[in-house]
Amino acid sequence: MTAEQISIVQASFDEVKGDPVGILYACLKADPSIQEKFPQFAGKDLEVVKGTPEFKTHAKRIVGYSLKVIYELPDMERDVDTFVASHKPRGITHEQLDNFRAGFVTYMKAHTDFAKSESAWGASLDNFFGMIKSKM
Ligand code: HEM
Repeated sequence: MTAEQISIVQASFDEVKGDPVGILYACLKADPSIQEKFPQFAGKDLEVVKGTPEFKTHAKRIVGYSLKVIYELPDMERDVDTFVASHKPRGITHEQLDNFRAGFVTYMKAHTDFAKSESAWGASLDNFFGMIKSKM
C-alpha cells in the first residue's frame, strides 16, 4: 500500500468509528450464518439483538481492533495472527469472511463518500482478508 492509500483509509475509517453498532449490524446482516457463531446472538432477531448492550460491547471490540490494524498500516501481520489464533477454532469459512467484508463495504458506501476511498480500501481489505485466508 502507498502512504497516500494508508492516509485515505485512516481518514475514511475515522468518519465512521463512532458508529460501531451500525458497522457490526451491516457485517452480520450480509450473512446470517455469521450471527449463528455467536453464542449470545444465535437464533435471535438481528433487529432486536442490535439494540442490546452485548451487541454494543462486541461492536466496540471489533472497531477497536480495526482501528489498531488501520493505524499500524501497512504492518498487520501480528494483528492478523492474533485474529487467526482466536478465530480459527471458531470454524469460520472463507465465504463468511467475504460476506463480512462485503457488509462492511455496503456500510461504507451508505455512510461515506466511498468513491474517493474505494481503491485505497480495496488494497487494504485485500491485504487484510488475503493474509487471514492464507492462515485459516
Ligand atoms: C470475537 C465470530 C469476523 C473481530 C468473536 C467471537 C465470535 C466471533 C464468536 C467471540 C464473541 C464473544 O465471546 O463475546 C466471528 C465470525 C466472523 C468474525 C463468525 C466471520 C466473518 C471478525 C472480523 C473481525 C473480528 C472480520 C475484525 C475485523 C473480533 C474481535 C473479537 C471477536 C476483535 C474479540 C476478541 C476475540 O475473541 O477474538 N468473533 N468473527 N471478527 N471478533 Fe470475530
